[in-house]
Amino acid sequence: MTKLWSETIAQARSLVENETDRVANAANVCALLKERFGWWWVGVYYVDSTTDTLVLGPFQGPVACTRIPFGRGVCGTCWQRRESIVVPDVELFPGHIACSSLSRSEIVVPVFVPDGSVKAVLDIDSDKLDAFDDDDKSALEEIAKLL
Ligand code: SME
Repeated sequence: MTKLWSETIAQARSLVENETDRVANAANVCALLKERFGWWWVGVYYVDSTTDTLVLGPFQGPVACTRIPFGRGVCGTCWQRRESIVVPDVELFPGHIACSSLSRSEIVVPVFVPDGSVKAVLDIDSDKLDAFDDDDKSALEEIAKLL
């Protein structure tokens, strides 16, 4: 893992360790990631099991879609598959939901609760193609454990 990532994970951990409010913690983690890496959009969608949709949570970046159905788009597919999805070119992902026309690549990582179900997804968009590699995926999976 890069020094930048290990420092970022350590900082995220220190931001959340004394706070239990999930919105406050997600808001700070999104801000940290956006500031550190300069990505186009960084945010969290929470599972709303009463409507089988993801609902927008704390984020940094332009306004975004409020709700995403289970199995739809990259986020809903991540929820359905229960695994991280790296999309090097959003135009090549069938069903990609374009909240912003400037988004070119994307990574979505599931956030699990202890019983193993998905409670949220962490979604990051870049305005550059192929912006996310395996190192980013592993690091963001560590970050997701803090949310
Ligand atoms: N592109 C996502 C939608 C959310 S925005 O990127 C913020 C998707 O296809 O699920």
